[in-house]
This record gives sequence, C-alpha cells and structure tokens, in this order.
Amino acid sequence: MSSAVEFDRVARPDGWWRSAVVYQIYPRSFQDSDGDGIGDIPGITSRLDYLAELGVDVLWLSPVYASPQVDNGYDISDYTDIDPLFGTLADLDALLAAAHERGIKLVMDLVVNHTSDLHAWFTESREPGSAKRDWYFWRPARPGCEPGTPGAEPDDSHAAFAPSAWTYDPRSGEYYLGIFSPGQPDLNWENPEVRQAVYAMMRWWVDRGVDGFRMDVINLISKPEELTLGGPIEPGQGSLRRVANGPRLDEFLAEMNREVGLDAQNLLTVGEMPGATIEVARRVTDPARHELNMVFTFEHVNLDQASWSKWDLAELPLPRLKENLAQWQDGLAEAGWNSLYYDNHDQPRAVSRFGDDSPEHRVDSAKTLATVLHLHKGTPYIYQGEEFGMTNAPLTQIEQYLDVESLNYHSLASAAGVPEEQILRSLARKGRDNARTPVQWDATPYAGFTTGIPWMAVNPNYRQINADEARRDPDSVFAHFQQLIRLRHSSEVVREGRFQLLLPDHEQLWAFTRTLGDEVLLVVANCSSAPAELPVGSLPDLDGAELILGTHPDAAATTLAPWESRLLRLSPPR
Ligand code: GLC
Repeated sequence: MSSAVEFDRVARPDGWWRSAVVYQIYPRSFQDSDGDGIGDIPGITSRLDYLAELGVDVLWLSPVYASPQVDNGYDISDYTDIDPLFGTLADLDALLAAAHERGIKLVMDLVVNHTSDLHAWFTESREPGSAKRDWYFWRPARPGCEPGTPGAEPDDSHAAFAPSAWTYDPRSGEYYLGIFSPGQPDLNWENPEVRQAVYAMMRWWVDRGVDGFRMDVINLISKPEELTLGGPIEPGQGSLRRVANGPRLDEFLAEMNREVGLDAQNLLTVGEMPGATIEVARRVTDPARHELNMVFTFEHVNLDQASWSKWDLAELPLPRLKENLAQWQDGLAEAGWNSLYYDNHDQPRAVSRFGDDSPEHRVDSAKTLATVLHLHKGTPYIYQGEEFGMTNAPLTQIEQYLDVESLNYHSLASAAGVPEEQILRSLARKGRDNARTPVQWDATPYAGFTTGIPWMAVNPNYRQINADEARRDPDSVFAHFQQLIRLRHSSEVVREGRFQLLLPDHEQLWAFTRTLGDEVLLVVANCSSAPAELPVGSLPDLDGAELILGTHPDAAATTLAPWESRLLRLSPPR
C-alpha cells in the first residue's frame, strides 16, 4: 500500500459510508402493493431484489411516519408510527429485515426542524401557559397592530410554501412560526427538553435497527438571536435565508451525535443544508468534530436561477457547474466529506435539466452525467428512476400540479401579476412535481406502479422508458449505473483519490483526474449535444491509456460524439 493511502487512513478513519452508494426512495411514488394508487412499504420490500441487482448499499426512505400529508410526509404528527397510507410498523420491520438480509442498509428521513401542527407536542403547545408552550416559537402581534388583522404578523417573513411564516392562533392571540407552512411549525431547539425528546425518538429508531438518518433542513434548527431572545424581530423578508446556519448549529449537532451515539454506532448521517457554505460543510463534516458524515449542499442546484428565487430561470453554462463541484471537492479535500447528487424528490430530473432528454440523446446524456458525478470524490446518491433515465413530467396546466410548493408559487405569482405562461414555464422547469411521478417499472398500464389509479399521473413515456426495458439491455443507463457502483466498491482511487479539474473554461467538456499514489484516472465527458474535439495537447498524455468505462464503441477517436464520455486509466509515468 502506498504511503499516500496510509496517511489518508490515519487522518480519516474509514467510515463504511465512504465506499457506499445511497438510493433514495420517495415511498409515495415507488411501488404500490394494495391498489390504492399510493406507493407503500410492502411495495418497497417487493422491489428489493431489483435494488440488490442495481448494487446499491443503502436505502434512504423519505418520510413514512404518521402525517396529515400537507407536504407529503415532511410534516410528521407521530415520529414513532407509520402512516396507514404506507403500512404499519410491522411492515417497516419486515422491510428492514429483508434489506439487511440482502446486505442493504436502511436510513430514515429525520424531520426535526419542525413537526406537523397535528403533532401532540404542538397541540399541547397551543394551550396558553402549557408546559410545552416554549417548545415552539410563539410571538405577539407586531406592536401597535390588532392581532389577527392583515399585516399584524410579527415580521414580514414569507414561509417557503405560504405567504407568511407566522400563523395566527386566536386562542392565545399569538402567532407561531412555520418557515415552511402553517402545517409545519418550527420546533424551538433552544429548549433542552425539545432536544432530549428528539434524541430519545432517534434512539428508539436506532434500537429498531435503522442504519442512520438523512436530516431534513438540519442547518435551520439553531435560530438566529432575534427569534431565540424573544425580542422584536427586525423587519425583513425571506426567513428561510436568515435562519440558516445559526449560532448553535455545531453545538446541537455534536450533542445529538453524542446523545444518540451516531458515530459510536457507525451510523450514516447526512444533513440537508440549504444555504450552507463550503466552510460550514467542512466544519460540520470534519470527523474530528463528531457532527455529521456529510451534507447536501444546494449550491450546484441553485445555479440555474437568476435570483434568490428558484422560479427565476437562468441558463446554466457548463463551466459554472464544473467550477462549483470542483470548489466543493477542493474545499472538503483535507477534512470533511462530500455527498454527490443531482436528483432528489425536490429537484427536477437530471437528464432533463443538465442533460438532453430527447430520444436521440437521453440514454447517452444520462450515462455521461452519471459518470461525471459518480467519479467525483464523495458518497453518490441515486434518486429512484434516475438509474434508468426517467425524465421530467410533461405538465402544462396548473391543474396537473399537486405539490404544495408549486401551488403556493402559482397563487402568489398570479396575484403579483406574473403572466400564467411564465409561471407555467418556471413550474415545468423547476417544480418538484417533476421528480414525483410514479416509478416506471414496465410497459403495462400505469407502468406497473399500481393496479389502481395512481395518486399522480404516470409519465406517458413509460412505454419506452422503464426499468424492465433497461434491465434487459446491456447498453442501458441501468447497466451503466451498475458499473459505476461496482467501480466505487472496487476502486480505492475512485473512493479516495485526489480530484483535479481540467479545462475549467471548456463549454462542452467536463474533464478531471483522480489520483492516488501512482494511479491516475481521467474522466473526459462531452456534456453537449454536439460533437467535441478532444484538446489532446491540454490533457494528460493518453498514450497507453486504458478505457475502463465508456459510452461509445470507438474510444480512441479524437472527436467525442454528443454526450460521449470516457473513463481512462492513465499509464504510470515511465
Ligand atoms: C426539505 C425536504 C422537502 C420539504 C422541506 C420541509 O427540503 O426535502 O421535501 O418540503 O424540507 O420539510
């Protein structure tokens, strides 16, 4: 073993998750087993062999807890029960056992920045003077205003999915904070009882056998002082931006890690962190600090917007995307760890967004995007359907949208006079509904997702694009993903090698090397729908290079076909 590797090992104990590939399941849209049109836990269990065949190591389940479903389960009314829509605790235990039998781990979504407004904690907190009043943020009306009248909210902050972050409760004449929606009141993490209740619940899940947590908007749990001190709130808009990365974030995360025994039990922890900078991520994921294994950054998925609003569409030149991922690679090279993703239940489909989903280029662009992402250093995340190139939903009318965020945006933008056409264009490009159409399993009615009527329309392209088809084709996107996953398992340089971006300004090519000791891998990928010349003089010496994974047969040509990519092992210097 080379000294570089030994050094690496000493500096950073090798967490098992460093060689793992995680697969995200959005249960509502994954597989229905009982014909009610909504995916469920037994449905997931019935597809475990497929996931084992793909080769993933970990499943992350989006929330299946009891919930009024204001935000499809990201509003939890009971953390230790399963919503009947998805099944029972016994179903969850059976899924866990069946996954473990196949060597697959299971990570739960942990949504503890907020609860549902129907959670017993909140019901109690609503009582003026109750022992749990301080478990949430209650504030009087703005000074001089009549409580409950328009404009009397404690400040002007919008919620992410509602016009105001403050909801009036007539019983006490006060307002509570819900930075996502009125159905998602924010927990007050300043209160030690809240924290202990959350840790106890987490221990309950760990004792049940789960292998870790994906932590929803976890960098919003420590609120800024203007909220925690209870004084008047500075006027200003966009509470979501103001509440990120608060003063006690590291303290809370370290306490959680200790109290639940997250690192002590080798559990996977990934924190979703809108607004986290590289600096925050490096701190939080530095193993010496025992906070989290890794975080989900939003920087690269916010590049195709012209302002703070995701609906304000902008073109995304390739150099900006490459540069951003490279900055995160560099920033977390010495301490910390990256998560790697394009897709999840909140993002449009990668092949439609960063690739070319036309019939001509869909397969190659899905493969090439995957090659690029999976050859970065970090833990890759695959979102259901990404592994065979599912595309955005062809939604053209507001009636087809179901997501609380899309509907709120539509109503606010309409009221502000934004033309319907423009709103629909933004929704079609960025709406979360794109990721939530049912998984396309096969070419039978409703794509094999359900025998009933699906809760959300199946993408009509399911007859051409489905898992069954992809599994039978050795050149499919699915087969390509299998190879990428195998590489991560088998190759030390893929897991640990140093990253270096090449050709940063090239408008079509995404090229980089990964180096560990003498071993150098080169990725060169044409991320465009036009051919691209290989700038041979600006690349490392390709003499004797060995093709490890490519999208096209002629891997020696000096022109790359549209969306062609090559992964090469370079010969060691003689
Ligand atoms: C996260 C989830 C998203 C949810 C929000 C509020 O961003 O991924 O789906 O709406 O948090 O819980």
